[in-house]
Amino acid sequence: MFDNIASGYDFLNRTLSLGTDRIWRRKLRKMLDVANPALVLDVATGTGDLAIECAKSKRKKTRKITGVDISEKMLEKGREKIEKKHLGDCIDLRYGDSENLEFESNMFDAVVVGFGVRNFENLDKGLREMRRVTKPSGKVFILDFSMPRNSFIRTLYSFYFFRILPLIGKIVSGNNHAYRYLPESVSQFPQYEQMTNRMNKAGFVNTKYKPLTFGIAVIYSGSKN
Ligand SMILES: C[S@@+](CC[C@H](N)C(=O)[O-])C[C@H]1O[C@@H](n2cnc3c(N)ncnc32)[C@H](O)[C@@H]1O
Repeated sequence: MFDNIASGYDFLNRTLSLGTDRIWRRKLRKMLDVANPALVLDVATGTGDLAIECAKSKRKKTRKITGVDISEKMLEKGREKIEKKHLGDCIDLRYGDSENLEFESNMFDAVVVGFGVRNFENLDKGLREMRRVTKPSGKVFILDFSMPRNSFIRTLYSFYFFRILPLIGKIVSGNNHAYRYLPESVSQFPQYEQMTNRMNKAGFVNTKYKPLTFGIAVIYSGSKN
């Protein structure tokens, strides 16, 4: 699916979120900067937007980011952007399945995921893999969509999310399925405490969540030990 929508993915992200997706990634990066990791893994990196954001830190001279994804077309787009931004020394994008990461255990100071965990076939396996490759004192940050908890906002947002967004997505991307899949997958995915419980089950500790923009998105965080 992501191979099919790769060419219009960034444009649609910006349009459908009215630019807030950038703000959310920046928030995650600021949380990451507090932990100040040197080696970062961006799982389900797609076109590399989160990896690129993570490179914009005070630590940019020493931070190395590896991004993995199973969609070659998304990775291709990401590599083009990284080259244009002259970030090739700092970011490396490569093929990789988040449920079977080809990295040794305890390798990364931090692992991040933006709008990716919802797409894992097996969430628990993906979370366990993310924990495995994180260093003992390392952190994980997961950004994803959620449904607002306030019923008034939820009603308004649902109209946009379930009716308007799939229509715009279909017109611009030409893909009927992809932008119907997005709201469906969000509404069926574990959110808030359900998600931190899944992280705990995978072995993470100190798990927390931070709702963003009325709870349209959430950043989940946790530590390996
Ligand atoms: C919505 S995109 C998110 C891209 C990017 N992280 C961002 O912030 O925009 C989700 C990505 O997850 C990838 N993906 C889905 N399942 C995966 C898996 N098992 N391993 C690695 N990547 C996966 C898809 O190929 C897609 O590029």
